[in-house]
Amino acid sequence: MVHDRIAVVDFGGQYAHLIATKIRRLKVRAEILQPEDSITTFEGFKGIILSGSPALSSFDEDAAYNKGIFDLPIPILGLCFGHQEIAKHYGGQVQHTKREYGPARLKLHGKSPVFAGLGERETVWMSHGDSVTALPAGFEEIASSGGEDGGAVNHNAAIADETRKRYGFQFHPEVDDTVHGDEMLSNFAIGICGCRSDWTTDNFIEERSALLREEVGNRDVFLLVSGGVDSTVCAVLLGRALGPERVHLLHIDNGLMRKNESATVLEEFGKRGFGDNLHFVDASERFLSNLAGVTAPEEKRRIIGDTFLDVYADEVAGLSLDGCVLAQGTIYPDTIETGGTKRADVIKTHHNRVPAVQKMIAEGLVVEPLSELYKVEVREVGEKLGLPDELVWRHPFPGPGLGIRLLCSDGRAPSLPEGAESKLMAFTDGSGMEGAFLPIRSVGVKGDLRSYEYPVMVWGEVKHGSLEEFASRLYSEVPGVNRCVLDLQGKGFKDAKPVAAGVTRERLDLLREADYAVMDILRRRGLYSKVWQCPTVFLPLEIDGRKGEFCIIRPVLSERAMTARPALPARDVLEELRDAAISIGGINGIALDLTTKPPGTIEWE
Ligand code: XMP
Repeated sequence: MVHDRIAVVDFGGQYAHLIATKIRRLKVRAEILQPEDSITTFEGFKGIILSGSPALSSFDEDAAYNKGIFDLPIPILGLCFGHQEIAKHYGGQVQHTKREYGPARLKLHGKSPVFAGLGERETVWMSHGDSVTALPAGFEEIASSGGEDGGAVNHNAAIADETRKRYGFQFHPEVDDTVHGDEMLSNFAIGICGCRSDWTTDNFIEERSALLREEVGNRDVFLLVSGGVDSTVCAVLLGRALGPERVHLLHIDNGLMRKNESATVLEEFGKRGFGDNLHFVDASERFLSNLAGVTAPEEKRRIIGDTFLDVYADEVAGLSLDGCVLAQGTIYPDTIETGGTKRADVIKTHHNRVPAVQKMIAEGLVVEPLSELYKVEVREVGEKLGLPDELVWRHPFPGPGLGIRLLCSDGRAPSLPEGAESKLMAFTDGSGMEGAFLPIRSVGVKGDLRSYEYPVMVWGEVKHGSLEEFASRLYSEVPGVNRCVLDLQGKGFKDAKPVAAGVTRERLDLLREADYAVMDILRRRGLYSKVWQCPTVFLPLEIDGRKGEFCIIRPVLSERAMTARPALPARDVLEELRDAAISIGGINGIALDLTTKPPGTIEWE
């Protein structure tokens, strides 16, 4: 079946992906195109949406993109920056004006089909400092904003040339705060462009399976399965399309996985008929011996990545893959130049570069059945294919696994920036909180750079404002701080010392238990699906003479992991988490990470 498609021109990062996701929710296929793409790339699309842009100002710069798209005989909708570009292109005027940020009230004028079915007033979300101040010939104002309760009217919040089918919205219909944004996008894509809503999960599974049979012919397929959603769904889709007996899976246990992870992966694939072709390698000893004595985060990452490639190369060489096709669980954002969390994909990218794999790529022996899907669509396909929720809705888990959640130390207390301690005392004075530096560094981000600084642990009752606000003032006012954690035992400490510790099986086993207990509580309390991720982290610290691991829990809320906010569970949940961790034994304290990203990262290393 040929699906109608909408092109979303990406003028900046996640806006475009959000628009494409919203269009796809309407069961209309949307694809991200780049501003510099040639006109022929736009052939076959039924409409174009020009995205907003976080950086570009229509007024200051003449953005470089192919303006030939305006001559195409298909409808175009411009959003924010895109709206201003449409106005400019057809001879209107754009100027710096009063900034509008956040929710705004829209007043609709006339009956444009792009607003079909909507009320006279709508709540929309704005974020702009430039506005269309003069309309091009042929365009009319179809909505203004403001003007309620005697406030000023902002003109041209939406404009249209119904003859040429050119539309511009100053606001963002793709953002959930625009109450009827989905209806507006539907009016454009389905109503005005005439797209059919047939981009469904069922259709995808049927069509992709048929295509796989064509691509693969009568050969066998090989796939590396990590236990993550993408490779799991990819494997099951391949099994459905080709029969599991033709799909060879390799799972490598690097010793840095969660409790029962490898066993669950093996069991799940075993149940689905992949048993005979399921290759499992327990490489934990090789990873641990390569990591022995190493404490620096980047060094640990590098060793984990390199060891993985070595193990993978050895295993692939040992399997007879001649005549096999290589499958990869690459998803849509990975295939788009500007998309997603690049760093998260470094390791994945490297898998695909070991010599045997490179040879297969060069010979065109690679299939990527999920390369058109966003993560949420991959999960839906997984659900349709009957995978358990447990697998389909799992949190992202980093390639280096628990290796980057087990902090290491050479036992020497690092030196704090000068005056940091007295600044901290001055900061907490009168706040109702007490605080002290923990003597170990963790990774964070400042601007675009990586920082390697100290956490401050706080305890007490914050007198003014919220904890999150207190934390954000703390790391901006006290030097050397990139994280703030809340002592869940509430009593603070007098003395903390780092203890020499590396990555050992013993420490990992204890971390696995603590992580398991934390995840179990989040699931039972219905919080698992509400948070993006919740790393459990160990710091090798002796606290007031008590040896053991100091445990941090880091529940975060996030959209795409580029930024994050701490999730603050209710007091009784925190108490349960505290009691569960302490009862494991070997844990000498526990704190909740209150840090946003930036300045912290989600992971501690
Ligand atoms: P940070 O810690 O940078 O993490 O805020 C952002 C997201 O990426 C994940 N992450 C990784 N994923 N390999 C991966 O596959 C890695 O090396 C890696 N480091 C961080 C992290 O869990 C979060 O979801």
